[in-house]
Amino acid sequence: MTVSVLCVCLGNICRSPTAEAVLRTRAEEAGLALEVDSAGTGGWHVGHPPDRRAQAAAAARGYDLSRQRARQVVQGDGRFDLILAMDDQNAADLRRLLPPEAHDRIALFLDGAPETAGRSVPDPYYDDRFDHVLDLIEAAADGWVARLKAGR
Ligand code: 4NP
Repeated sequence: MTVSVLCVCLGNICRSPTAEAVLRTRAEEAGLALEVDSAGTGGWHVGHPPDRRAQAAAAARGYDLSRQRARQVVQGDGRFDLILAMDDQNAADLRRLLPPEAHDRIALFLDGAPETAGRSVPDPYYDDRFDHVLDLIEAAADGWVARLKAGR
């Protein structure tokens, strides 16, 4: 069965679209069947493509974000097998937005790698550290792929 993963941040224009593309690419490379999507806890950017800076930083590493469009988290997102929040605030908001039975499937994206477990992906929207965000996300995505491939 295909495992489904939802990546979640605040605006769905910087961190979670990046996480979506990286996770999808790394899963494909590893031969792991994965359904990947992303959404934002906020609705300000609904329908917008990812931030130009996020697109440029991702493109430099071979990830194409250009076809993604922002959407807001809906209750039905509780169907995902794994709901990966970019930061602690996103995780807290998800517990408010999703039905209780989904709460034990919420984790932090950076829990994927032991070196960053429990940490938040810093929001690059204001500080422009898109390459740092990509470094963190790539390492954690590899960890999630390894874990999911092993069935853990
Ligand atoms: P994201 O970044 O949550 O990584 O997509 C942000 C994008 C937009 C805003 C905040 C964070 N905003 O306030 O509009």
